[in-house]
Amino acid sequence: MSLSVRFSHVVKEFGPVRVLHGVDFALEAGRVVGLLGENGAGKSTLMKILAGYERPTGGQLLVDGIERHFASARDAEALGIALIHQEFNLAEHLSIAQNIFLGHEKTRGWLLDHRAMARDAAQYLEQVGLDVDANTRVSELIVAEKQLVEIAKALSRKARLLIMDEPTATLSPGETAKLFTLMARLKSEGVTIVYISHKLDEMEKHTDEVVVMRDGKFVTRAHTADVTRQQMANLMVGRDVSDMFLPKAPPPASAPVLLGVSGLTVPGWVENLGFDVRAGEILGFAGLVGAGRTEAFESIVGLRPRSAGTVAIAGQSVKIRSPREAMEHGLTYLSEDRKGKGLHMDLGLRENLTMMTLERDAKPWVDTKAGRAALDQAIADFGIRLRDPDCVARSLSGGNQQKLALAKYLRPGPKVVVLDEPTRGVDVGAKRDIYALIHRLAAEGRAVVVISSELIELIGLCHRVAVLHGGRLNAVLGPDQLTEENLISHATNTHH
Ligand SMILES: Nc1ncnc2c1ncn2[C@@H]1O[C@H](COP(=O)(O)OP(=O)(O)OP(=O)(O)O)[C@@H](O)[C@H]1O
Ligand SMILES: [Mg+2]
Repeated sequence: MSLSVRFSHVVKEFGPVRVLHGVDFALEAGRVVGLLGENGAGKSTLMKILAGYERPTGGQLLVDGIERHFASARDAEALGIALIHQEFNLAEHLSIAQNIFLGHEKTRGWLLDHRAMARDAAQYLEQVGLDVDANTRVSELIVAEKQLVEIAKALSRKARLLIMDEPTATLSPGETAKLFTLMARLKSEGVTIVYISHKLDEMEKHTDEVVVMRDGKFVTRAHTADVTRQQMANLMVGRDVSDMFLPKAPPPASAPVLLGVSGLTVPGWVENLGFDVRAGEILGFAGLVGAGRTEAFESIVGLRPRSAGTVAIAGQSVKIRSPREAMEHGLTYLSEDRKGKGLHMDLGLRENLTMMTLERDAKPWVDTKAGRAALDQAIADFGIRLRDPDCVARSLSGGNQQKLALAKYLRPGPKVVVLDEPTRGVDVGAKRDIYALIHRLAAEGRAVVVISSELIELIGLCHRVAVLHGGRLNAVLGPDQLTEENLISHATNTHH
């Protein structure tokens, strides 16, 4: 039932750029293997080769001892290999059911059997805990829901080897717990699982062994029980990465309020939300998926209609109808949906970086020198790892796309910075760099808002944390109240 796999000297080149340098290791049947490595190490690329989405330019892939050349994902699927994509691979304009059965449509005679597909899709949705009608269009879903559809789709392929590429990056704790229950069940049914994540606590709890990749090569493997989280972090980065967080320096009480929001109501999402962020302050936003955090800020920058509420920037009441107007007022919002809203995937890195300031600088020609300088700066500030500066955004690894998006949105030099899940999919080393950068933004006198689902991050980084539950502000926790227990109890409304 389970599949075993051996990679033998696997090489992958994109044009002149070599990203896998001869990878050698084996996946034993029926085990859960955690695949660790920094952003750009080659994890996703190697797994796309295994799942038939990419072809190796050298070396061999053996499945159950037999050499295979997959011409497409269908070939891999025929052997029972399925991949849950890191960057979702869904057709936005199709329904959930259509996506799940894409390429495997059920038919009755000559006709598509929509009823059967909707019924079966509903079953898979239930297994992953997504309570949405299977006929809903994917474009209407929020990111976490898209992730669950991706998982349901892989389940429908009845995989014997299932690759999960950072599946929990966008999920809430509840959804994550469900996913691990599902994973345990699949394992007990003999499915071989490759699990990719930058969340080392997940690696520790849910894998049998870990394989570490660095710079397109296999580095080492270990039984999970034999290594600590700190050792995992050091192995993947190749240097010591303790001390993730810098000491906090809260702003003085006299610091001016740079962002003031009051009475904000977004129909269906947020009710009567009010808060202030001062210069030099890092205010966190905690809450479960659906608590309204993203929707509140989408409304503040004009992406979502509101029925009531005022927004003031540096004491001036402002009317903002679009993210561009927000930027003109000095407020930048980096969306959690970097693929949908943050980056232009088919444009180059320089074009992405200079896009936001293009109109401000209003030059009638394309300033390639400025673009190059911007890219060099971004590489230095954000530790973007790339092999080809002329590539398009899509060909960066997931974590490096996130760093590029950060660089792009911070280039205009805003007074108020709102970062929605800024370290999603980012490796430990880069995470520490981003935390240091957020500290620097605050130290420069900006007001920073960090929306995050990682409690450790909120506690380690923020001066205060606002907790939303069901669209209402449940609490604002100060430095001495910032504990995981407090955050969870307010986020789930079980606080007494
Ligand atoms: N289509 C492509 N064209 C050119 N280069 C690519 C392409 N896809 C990936 N790369 C490059 O291959 C390298 C490995 O990327 P990959 O996505 O496999 O990394 P990863 O280990 O999954 O990283 P992350 O943790 O950020 O997801 C990166 O340098 C990336 O820029
Ligand atoms: Mg990846």
